[in-house]
Amino acid sequence: MESLPVLFSFAASHWLACLIGVVLIPIVYARLTSPLSHLPGPEISKWTSAVYTYYYLKGKIPNYVHALHGKYGPIVRITPDHVDICDTDAVKEIHKTNSRFLKTDFYRKLVAGAAHNVFSTVDPKFHADHRRLLASPISDSSISRLEPVIADRIRLTIRRMVEEMDSRGVADVFKWWLFMATDIIGQLSFGESFGMLESGKKNQYSLDMENLSSVGAIRVTFPFLVKLGSYLPLPIFQKSAASGKRLGMYAAKSVRQYQDSLTQNPSGAKPTLFTKLFDTEKSGMSFDDIRQEAQAYIVAGSDTTAVTLTYLIYKVCQNRHVQEKLVAEVASVPEPVSDKTLRNLPYLSQVISETLRLYSTVPVGLPRLVPEGGATFNGFFVPGGITAATQSYSLHRDPKIFPDPERFYPERWESPTREMKDASLPFGGGSRICLGIHLARMELRLATALFYRTMPDARLSTKEGMSASDMEMSATFLMAPQGHRCLIEV
Ligand code: HEM
Repeated sequence: MESLPVLFSFAASHWLACLIGVVLIPIVYARLTSPLSHLPGPEISKWTSAVYTYYYLKGKIPNYVHALHGKYGPIVRITPDHVDICDTDAVKEIHKTNSRFLKTDFYRKLVAGAAHNVFSTVDPKFHADHRRLLASPISDSSISRLEPVIADRIRLTIRRMVEEMDSRGVADVFKWWLFMATDIIGQLSFGESFGMLESGKKNQYSLDMENLSSVGAIRVTFPFLVKLGSYLPLPIFQKSAASGKRLGMYAAKSVRQYQDSLTQNPSGAKPTLFTKLFDTEKSGMSFDDIRQEAQAYIVAGSDTTAVTLTYLIYKVCQNRHVQEKLVAEVASVPEPVSDKTLRNLPYLSQVISETLRLYSTVPVGLPRLVPEGGATFNGFFVPGGITAATQSYSLHRDPKIFPDPERFYPERWESPTREMKDASLPFGGGSRICLGIHLARMELRLATALFYRTMPDARLSTKEGMSASDMEMSATFLMAPQGHRCLIEV
């Protein structure tokens, strides 16, 4: 009779063989059937997406993919079924109006709770219907009417920064820009600001958004873990599930309160980006549609603007000549400062364009599905069903288009070439271009001008251990400074 240890060791080796089989068979299968094996790229990317996932979780995908372009050229295979293309023809083809390259399932995984909104949807009809309704209230002319509300919040932000400098010796501009952008989009979506600028603290809504986004990378890379988390008591998933639930409840309550105030006093209610859509019979949008879109706006319109402004201040403070030129230009504007005047300031616009180039807040590729029948890029055929992306981090650093690409040099935008415009993707493009672009641009102009009018001598601080490593870019989908702070002093 076999002894127990022998039986155990047989069972263990049996299980080990099964485990190796389960892990290895899909990898070998992916390699043998890879439709992208003819494309340039590292050998490992034919076999597995493990290396890509590793850099994704580290927040370093833009750097990894950029290094691959440096080695393999404009088209590169980054996983067995995913290519990145650094080429303006590909951008024009993929990100054009009514493009056949639709968003991939990535977006459904990225947003928590499988929310269905204008940002996350992969359904072209749903997208076109919602975008048509949402576009008018957030158009350039509609946003101009909201300028007083926006400018008020920005002026308060600058006052709060000055107060912090007086009391603490430094102001954390990242924190204040985040409070500002979140308060503004909260007010324009829910009808009520979150009041973070007043309290100087993140409120529960903001903390819950942070909780959800902290597991965003896991949702995208290991969606099965999130599903498992709803059955098993894993604290990280329980916490994010609770946050998701709270966000939904808060949003529903806020939207309901706004709807009630609109019904009771239609002319007295503060205008929001959804006011007209509450006529649900006319708009065809349900209460829940509005709630989901409002929640999407708050995610899409807070960190993006705050991170852009943070890097703008960071880079301007590092370049004496840029700072002097910008300060002189914004100081020349008579009071009261209005966005109409700021639009005509050439250097302000160049500084913003240069910040959006080097510090695009979505520096990773925007994944799109190659349509049935495939497509040819740079002479390489890419079959249908493959994910194709054109990451802005690399496009914005193409030395043929942007000479000396790592240099922060706003003057390059004095008279931009066609190629520079074609290669610029900070707001995406085509039918899926950022819906909040006019709001974002107005915030960027007003905030930059008011900041440098108040603090013309602002400089980077080294107090509290602040260093360049705090400002290293870290990106899964959205990018943020690694240290989550940017300290300034005068
Ligand atoms: C500097 C600030 C901003 C930047 C850099 C930015 C960037 C982007 C990018 C790159 C996309 C395309 C995503 C993709 O195709 O995968 C996008 C889409 C979107 N953004 Fe922004 N964004 C900014 C501010 C805002 C603001 C303030 C809002 C407020 C409403 C907003 C709302 C949206 C929405 C709703 C979409 C989805 C549009 C669609 O798919 O039709 N964004 N944004």
